[in-house]
Amino acid sequence: MSVMSYSEKKIRCAVLGAAGYSGAELCALLVANPHFSLEHAFASAGRIAEPLSNLYPRFTNAIDIVVEPWRDERISTLNVDVAFLALPHEASEAITPLLLAAGIVVVDLSGAFRLKQPQLYPKYYGYQHQHPELLADAVYCLMEWLEQTPGNLISVPGCYPTACSLALLPLVKAELIAEHCIPVINATSGVSGAGRKATLNTSFCEVGLNAYGFFGHRHRPEIEQNLGRKVVFTPHLGNFKRGILATSVVTLKPNVSAEHVKQVFTEAYQHKPLVRLLNHSPNIANVVGTPYCDLYWQQDEEQLIVVSAIDNLLKGAAAQAMQAANIRFGKPETAGLFSGVVV
Ligand SMILES: NC(=O)c1ccc[n+]([C@@H]2O[C@H](COP(=O)([O-])OP(=O)(O)OC[C@H]3O[C@@H](n4cnc5c(N)ncnc54)[C@H](OP(=O)(O)O)[C@@H]3O)[C@@H](O)[C@H]2O)c1
Repeated sequence: MSVMSYSEKKIRCAVLGAAGYSGAELCALLVANPHFSLEHAFASAGRIAEPLSNLYPRFTNAIDIVVEPWRDERISTLNVDVAFLALPHEASEAITPLLLAAGIVVVDLSGAFRLKQPQLYPKYYGYQHQHPELLADAVYCLMEWLEQTPGNLISVPGCYPTACSLALLPLVKAELIAEHCIPVINATSGVSGAGRKATLNTSFCEVGLNAYGFFGHRHRPEIEQNLGRKVVFTPHLGNFKRGILATSVVTLKPNVSAEHVKQVFTEAYQHKPLVRLLNHSPNIANVVGTPYCDLYWQQDEEQLIVVSAIDNLLKGAAAQAMQAANIRFGKPETAGLFSGVVV
């Protein structure tokens, strides 16, 4: 019997949390990716098995996977190379070590393994991390700024941190931001950012436009970890389904020219197919349903405003997970990202 390498066979995968918004998007991307084969889809243990297209009728005749209830005992029966976890943070944290022990690569979309300092979890996530030893192993895959080859535990960045970090990292890396500056980031997300479960705060009649999470949102330490500096980050909830628009304001060092800023953004992203540098202000209408991050900036002497727009469920979740898995298994980075059955 010959042993087939990853380059010769499809990568077999499971999606946990497939009934949720990001998990369902992942199922669509995986089905569209010629290098991957979606073998299993799971939701919580309390569900009965039913087709994903019952839960998301837009997948009717397009995706025929059945969503099954998850139980940890299923791990020994999986026969997959990779599991994508689109689960609440604590569920991901508990299931990940079991999957790793079974030799299954984990691509985690939750925040369970994003922060390197375990002591931040009680304050920002509300629980004590049970597997701090895995935080060092997890490779944080902000794909355009990947510094390490992904291993067996991939941590997919949060949606807001993706939008703001893509906006500010070119300036940080080029050391253009004034030392005394604390970047101010205001970002608005559509309601799908809160997941599919019904809550009063995210119900149709309640959502208008409001700020929340002042100083204490869990994405703040993640953004600070990415940028290596403090930020003031204020998220907002808007009355639209999906998309994030982030406006990041910084003070530059003295005498940084407009040409220099342009050069820094161009050099950062000229070979990054999913970041588009625009000559007009981004609109979430142009990124929803796509894996892109749109960027634009305006400068007035030392003040610089960078605007970024992403689909929170794609570049902010499922598409970035797909990018990471493509790279992890030696496939083209954008495979499957432009042909999914996405809204
Ligand atoms: N929404 C976004 O924009 C976004 C962006 C980036 C990252 N994320 C992160 O991605 C993860 C999923 O987010 P989401 O918005 O897609 O959530 P969601 O819509 O609420 O879906 C969560 C899924 O997890 C399943 N689940 C819950 N507890 C479970 C358990 N103990 N065992 C197995 N399955 C369980 C749920 O099953 P049932 O349906 O049966 O309850 C559901 O399928 C979260 O960690 C979130 O922070 C979300």
